[in-house]
Amino acid sequence: MESEQTSLVQTSEGKYSTVYYDPDRDICVKVIKQRYSTRQEAFAVMMPMFADYMVMKHYLGEYVPDTTFEIVKIDESYVIQIEQEYLEGMTILEALAQAQSELLDTSKIADFLEMCLAMYSQTGRVPDLLYDVCPLLLSSFLLRNLVKAVYPYNPVNVLVTVAEGKLIPHLVDTSFSRKSLHPKYGKAYSRLIVWNIKAILKILKMK
Ligand SMILES: Nc1ncnc2c1ncn2[C@@H]1O[C@H](COP(=O)(O)OP(=O)(O)OP(=O)(O)O)[C@@H](O)[C@H]1O
Ligand SMILES: [Mg+2]
Repeated sequence: MESEQTSLVQTSEGKYSTVYYDPDRDICVKVIKQRYSTRQEAFAVMMPMFADYMVMKHYLGEYVPDTTFEIVKIDESYVIQIEQEYLEGMTILEALAQAQSELLDTSKIADFLEMCLAMYSQTGRVPDLLYDVCPLLLSSFLLRNLVKAVYPYNPVNVLVTVAEGKLIPHLVDTSFSRKSLHPKYGKAYSRLIVWNIKAILKILKMK
């Protein structure tokens, strides 16, 4: 397996994964940084990731890229490897700025954001369209409102491509944020994501 990976080109570094472009197969390969000593251990971590992906695919359909998960042996340890189409995309806020100057159709971005809100009201879960708000902020009313004051945050987990004058969002990170599972701040974190989604929708509707 190692020899197969020598042609991979690293394109990005996430918190949990290293992101590569595989020129031979023209796909995106994400290798989760954590190493496991047994295949079973890696499998136990991979299954909830796969479950998250299935939930997102169910609720957000076309906006979630087809994604595969597998366990790969590297040296003496096991890693989780995620593969999906490689997208040369921009962030949502970059896309909205471009739409303003080039008259691009933003209806699919609005549709995607509305679907995220519908998913939240039906399941209480929402993809991480906020990114990196620390639990300390969530614990303080004052700080929480400071966060809201500088909305919207640019969600890095979504990449936007352009096809026939239309902006198409792709939710490339198919796992729910670990912060939304926090026993104390999880619910507040999800509510902040929802606020952010609504703030982006507001910008869209002003256009
Ligand atoms: N399919 C893809 N095509 C091109 N670039 C991608 C793709 N998937 C992810 N990326 C880039 O890599 C970054 C990190 O990917 P991803 O969010 O899946 O990993 P992560 O480990 O969860 O990172 P983070 O903790 O930063 O969210 C994305 O923000 C995006 O810029
Ligand atoms: Mg991510």
